[in-house]
Amino acid sequence: MAHIRTWYLKVLLCVGTFLLFILVWCHVTQLLGEPKGGLGLDLSPLFSGDLVQPSCPEGLVLLILVTSHPAHTEQRKIIRKTWGAQSEMAAYPWQAVFLIGRTLDLELDWHLHKEHVANSDLLMGNYLDTYRNLTLKVMHGLKWAVDRCHPRYILKTDDDCFVNTDRLPTFLARTNRIRQGLYVGSTFSREKRVVIRDPSSKWYVSKQNYDPDTYPPYASGIGYILSLDVAHTVLATAQTTPSIPMEDAYVGILADRAGVKLLSSTRFAKHNLKWSICNYRYLMVIHRVSPAEQELAQGNVQLANTDCTMNKEVKHW
Ligand SMILES: *[C@@H]1O[C@H](CO)[C@@H](O)[C@H](O)[C@H]1NC(C)=O
Repeated sequence: MAHIRTWYLKVLLCVGTFLLFILVWCHVTQLLGEPKGGLGLDLSPLFSGDLVQPSCPEGLVLLILVTSHPAHTEQRKIIRKTWGAQSEMAAYPWQAVFLIGRTLDLELDWHLHKEHVANSDLLMGNYLDTYRNLTLKVMHGLKWAVDRCHPRYILKTDDDCFVNTDRLPTFLARTNRIRQGLYVGSTFSREKRVVIRDPSSKWYVSKQNYDPDTYPPYASGIGYILSLDVAHTVLATAQTTPSIPMEDAYVGILADRAGVKLLSSTRFAKHNLKWSICNYRYLMVIHRVSPAEQELAQGNVQLANTDCTMNKEVKHW
């Protein structure tokens, strides 16, 4: 009897040890596997019920996400009057929305709410509005666009840029042939894609956040266009990719990881040169446009429509 009992206990001990081993092993592999997913971006905290958001009609060809500082009231005002102004009868519907984070300035916050009541075009996210949080701002905007808005294309731009809304929606809907997998903008040479490791720089990125010494090709944050499927892919990839504060380079990293090809186009101008009137038939985004220059640029678009009809229409990106 005693003999059977010890035998029984031995088997039990063996099985127990084995099960314990399996348990520990599972736990360890789970822990090891975690950093990949755990360090990606969690977007859910960026949404909060108390923050305002615009409505978005179904069937938009283009949604324009404009990153804007809470205090840039003047920039937003002039954009609404110029390239942001909708004509009621637009054949290819589009909409511009300003991306704004939280401000600790209570008076400014009060003004922002008033501004939203008057224009209903502010999309506020639950993050502090700082330069180092720009990536959160853009990811929040993309997530909102993908979940609530479903436009065919998304243009991300800044409030110091001019957007040729007279041409872009029509170009996207009628001329552009890339309906899926579109990621297009103004690119950088390899030398300009070197990762900045100086901690005092505005663009500093640690090796921990991003190990390689150069970024993959990416489109400048002045303006890039993503088709809706690419926006989806970018957001999904962000969940497993540590974020860096450089919003445009981060989108490039995500696109690269997901196998989305970047298209380079000179229709996105990093500099506001003295463009001729007829250039306004070609350019889609121009950077470094002051509020006063926005009116000039919008006027040039109108002039180009009447003065440059002899110029051949450029059909490629
Ligand atoms: C970014 O926003 C979060 C959430 O509001 C805040 O806790 C954090 O301090 C901000 N980061 C920077 C670098 O400003």
